[in-house]
Amino acid sequence: RGLAAGRGRQPCPYAEDGYVKMFLRGRPVPMYVPDALVATYSLDTKLELPPKKLKLDWVYGYRGRDCRANLFLLPTGEIVYFVAAVAVLYSVEEQRQRHYLGHNDDIKCLAVHPDMVTIATGQVAGTSKDGKPLLPHVRVWDSVSLNTLHVLGLGAFDRAVSCVGFSKSNGGGLLCAVDESNEHVLSVWDWQKEQKIADVKCSNESVLAATFHPTEPTLLITCGKSHLYFWSLDKGSLSKRQGIFEKHEKPKYVLCVAFTENGDVVTGDSGGNLYIWGKGGNRISQAVLGAHEGGVFGLCVLRNGTIVSGGGKDRRVVLWGRDYQKLQENEVPESFGPVRTITEGKDDTLFVGTTRNSVLQGSLATGFSSLVQGHTEELWGLATHPSLDQFLTCGQDRQVHLWSVATRRPLWSKAIEDAARSAGFHPNGSVLAVGTVTGRCRVLGPHPCGSAQLLLSVPPDGSYLAVGSHDNFVYVYGVSEDGRKYSRVGKCSGHSSFITHLDWAADSSCFVTNSGDYEILYWDPTTCRQIPNAGAVRNLEWATASCVLGFGVFGIWPEGADGTDINAVCRSHDGKLLASADDFGKVHLFSYPCCQPRAPSHAAGGHSSHVTNVAFLPDDSLLLSTGGTDTSVLQWRLV
Ligand SMILES: *[C@@H]1O[C@H](CO)[C@@H](O)[C@H](O)[C@H]1NC(C)=O
Ligand SMILES: *[C@@H]1O[C@H](CO)[C@@H](O)[C@H](O)[C@H]1NC(C)=O
Ligand SMILES: *[C@@H]1O[C@H](CO)[C@@H](O)[C@H](O)[C@H]1NC(C)=O
Repeated sequence: RGLAAGRGRQPCPYAEDGYVKMFLRGRPVPMYVPDALVATYSLDTKLELPPKKLKLDWVYGYRGRDCRANLFLLPTGEIVYFVAAVAVLYSVEEQRQRHYLGHNDDIKCLAVHPDMVTIATGQVAGTSKDGKPLLPHVRVWDSVSLNTLHVLGLGAFDRAVSCVGFSKSNGGGLLCAVDESNEHVLSVWDWQKEQKIADVKCSNESVLAATFHPTEPTLLITCGKSHLYFWSLDKGSLSKRQGIFEKHEKPKYVLCVAFTENGDVVTGDSGGNLYIWGKGGNRISQAVLGAHEGGVFGLCVLRNGTIVSGGGKDRRVVLWGRDYQKLQENEVPESFGPVRTITEGKDDTLFVGTTRNSVLQGSLATGFSSLVQGHTEELWGLATHPSLDQFLTCGQDRQVHLWSVATRRPLWSKAIEDAARSAGFHPNGSVLAVGTVTGRCRVLGPHPCGSAQLLLSVPPDGSYLAVGSHDNFVYVYGVSEDGRKYSRVGKCSGHSSFITHLDWAADSSCFVTNSGDYEILYWDPTTCRQIPNAGAVRNLEWATASCVLGFGVFGIWPEGADGTDINAVCRSHDGKLLASADDFGKVHLFSYPCCQPRAPSHAAGGHSSHVTNVAFLPDDSLLLSTGGTDTSVLQWRLV
């Protein structure tokens, strides 16, 4: 009884009269202890770590929206790319992924060493959970063992490393990098010694690519907004020559650069032109005007010496002969968006990354189809199918994908009118609802059902749909015909802040809600009335545990938590584990029930932004998590 000694910013939870009180932002949150536990419950009992850990199993997504030249084929047959804080090695033939997890925030660039084994990845600056800065840096790692070989530039880069490249001659001993400081500093490193050998302010404008010339060991090229620079590296200093456009139209952006077999430099720009810069010079020797309608976003020189260019606006993939005659072309389907980068696969296969965060596979002859599908904007909605290995995601990009875990691809994708915030399956599995930020639920057609920012939940017997809304109300609908018919029961009022989480009782008789001001309220769905005495429902079993406030889960809260540090929780179907999604990029796994203060957990990293949601597959073999602004879905195996 009585107050436990206060540590941290607010009082510790304490137990009295059959309930536990915890504090968030100074507000007390009382939670009733079930009668069966009251006699034996003690806050001092030590909870065990969960018997299982999380191992990253699959990564859904690709970052093409704002990153470039970030898709390569390795001799192992794997393609390598990144999303969130994960570098993905994906063997398409074997349908297998491996992951490099050395980064602690967004990866922004990637380069492959001429040995085709060593990889460099650069990341952004971030902030750790305890408020310490995470410095931007480059990691050099081995793509076979996945071991980190070197870490470069901790403290040397500002904001983010946005371009990285290995030298190609001289054994590839050098590495160049550009950061996102105002001056976009270009630096050159002896990466094996982890020493910087030169740096220079590259441009006040954005820099989109930095690369060593393949045969001239001291020549580097950078391009970006209103510039193309040829840099000479001489005894620790970098001197530049500007690319001279002479009579040619100077492009707003030089978007990409590649090298032909004979050492010529080819650039693609925002005017849709290809310019060829004769080896060693800074003047245009040949121009292919109007190669694309809109910008030329990607360039790739193939093994047989022909060149492929990829268009932004026109989404075309064009093959050019050595003499820059157009030989063949094809188009990326509209739904995948503009071409971002192109890389050559086996035989005549090409891999194409797009600005809509997808990777396509195909050839000029056959066209391109989706290999990796991603969301493109903030992602919140996640729901797993009640009985099959399928899950649904939806977000700000107004796309709804129903994913098959077996094929790792969407079974279908659907564009809806509004940004989506949440999703729920009917227990029947054949019907699902998507809640949008404008307050519409889509259940086989749009049903207005509340105000913005919806939260959807259906009880185990499928008889209701409860919609927690941003306007502080919960709207309850009666559901019939296996989820095909909806009729409004009522509007539950009582919360003084928006509804954040909702769970149904196992017998569907009651539901519980959490709100933005840390209240826990219980409701009778038949009347939409609040159940005034929370003690009366203390012994109910709950079908799910997705409320972040409650006796069964309060151990998820870290010391000094402010109430927004955890975005979602989910209990495994066997009732033994609890997963949480935190605001610092981590997914945690706890033992359930999790009713001791600051319960121990296994934490897993890979997301680079707030984790917005977590959900177990029906057989509990896998957990899924969604990263808010990193737009990725991570699939975790419980091992
Ligand atoms: C870049 O910005 C700095 C500081 O604002 C300024 O002093 C410098 O003249 C600029 N350089 C160019 C080339 O515009
Ligand atoms: C070069 O390779 C590409 C891709 O495999 C193929 O489409 C093209 O026909 C080849 N061109 C020549 C001239 O061999
Ligand atoms: C779900 O509902 C549909 C339509 O009423 C019905 O055909 C189907 O058999 C139901 N499935 C299950 C698993 O209950």
